Amino acid sequence: MSETAGPNTADPNTAAATAEPPAAADDGSGSTRGATIQLDGLTKRYPGSPNPAVDNVTMEIKAGETVVLVGPSGCGKSTTLKMINRLIEPSSGRIRIGDEDVTDMDPVKLRRQIGYAIQSSGLFPHMTVAENIALVPKMVGWSKSKVKDRVEEMLDLVGLDPREFHDRYPRRLSGGQQQRVGVARALAADPPVLLMDEPFGAVDPITRDHLQDELIRLQHELHKTIVFVTHDFDEAIKLGDRIAVLRERSQIAQFDTPEAILTNPADDFVSGFVGAGAALKRLNLTRVREVEIAEFPTVTVEDPLQSIFNKLSSGPHNELLMLDRKNRPYKWLRRGDLSRAKGSLANAGQLVHDTVTRDATLHDALEAVLTDSGGRVAVTGRRGEYIGVVDMQTLMTSVQEMLEADRLTAFEHQHELAERHGVRGGQEPRSGAGA
Ligand SMILES: Nc1ncnc2c1ncn2[C@@H]1O[C@H](COP(=O)(O)OP(=O)(O)OP(=O)(O)O)[C@@H](O)[C@H]1O
Ligand SMILES: [Mg+2]
Repeated sequence: MSETAGPNTADPNTAAATAEPPAAADDGSGSTRGATIQLDGLTKRYPGSPNPAVDNVTMEIKAGETVVLVGPSGCGKSTTLKMINRLIEPSSGRIRIGDEDVTDMDPVKLRRQIGYAIQSSGLFPHMTVAENIALVPKMVGWSKSKVKDRVEEMLDLVGLDPREFHDRYPRRLSGGQQQRVGVARALAADPPVLLMDEPFGAVDPITRDHLQDELIRLQHELHKTIVFVTHDFDEAIKLGDRIAVLRERSQIAQFDTPEAILTNPADDFVSGFVGAGAALKRLNLTRVREVEIAEFPTVTVEDPLQSIFNKLSSGPHNELLMLDRKNRPYKWLRRGDLSRAKGSLANAGQLVHDTVTRDATLHDALEAVLTDSGGRVAVTGRRGEYIGVVDMQTLMTSVQEMLEADRLTAFEHQHELAERHGVRGGQEPRSGAGA
């Protein structure tokens, strides 16, 4: 058993679970973990095209790892992905998932074992949210009560309140909510493998950030094998345990960790794709959970005005964070706001515009902090509930430490190289002398 989990999903249990075929890879927590995917000489020739769209691609995706395929438009990312669940039939080559060669397996049966999420969410408009999510579990013959529980569990998992969203139709959801349901549907039948083709391409940047954070959190819990397609390199850095940078005909220009690609791009094509500001992009590799999340004095909208007033005027803080009835950050209240409040807080304070989750990157957090006059951002949990606060000082310190660590690594690496050269340099004359 040579498989291990990807660097971001390292877990002593993952390695053991990966030895199992997909159908049996249950780790005891009730959820099926990822399976290895092997593409061997995979090629697609579309009828009438002189050149193959995908040409002889060989790659191994480890169980439990998130691999991002990134590359310019038309380079064959979607074609490669769709050959894995045989929405597109390969012209030649083999596909293995877990221990099974699935190249000639009944494609309908195969697709029930593979979650698939796409840009427009692909929800059926005439079905409710619950019916959309229940689709595959029903098809594979789960009992009614098991399907019902699973729908609730999935909605909860992707951060949608089942009571609120269960019976809604897709057209009554925001783009981000539709994408969440799309992910819930892809995960519903508990497949070991999840294929995602620019699933967050159609939503606004802030929602996209949140959805990416959600996916990272989900993957921490689920350890699926995820193949994710994007043409956004920043998204690739944020999500990938490893990134495959593809050029035309899906040729692999580099297949490595985000750190390695950023600090050591294989060639000019990859450097061009990485773009400028590689140092700043490193911010995308550190998560809010890795820095200190501080406590902040809070009140809730249901607290009596007088107690809020007392807390602000007599306490050590000149600012409070007011939470709504669901414990979500609502308003920043300063001492001065109260003196102008005159019996009601309706117009007092500053609404919380942006929050980050623990899985957000320091890049997201920095952006939120920089756009907020107070120089801090509230950190929230799965349902948007308040957890704490990260401020400018904490971010600055963390970034400085990170860059310092990078410099140290580079310095040591240079010395290692120099020493190796030194050793070789010292040996060569000796062996020359002995000859
Ligand atoms: N059904 C088809 N028939 C013929 N050619 C196709 C077909 N689908 C895709 N192609 C061609 O195959 C190549 C790869 O297409 P593919 O959709 O895989 O690219 P992509 O990397 O996903 O691009 P994008 O980032 O724009 O989604 C393109 O040149 C495209 O024109
Ligand atoms: Mg595509």
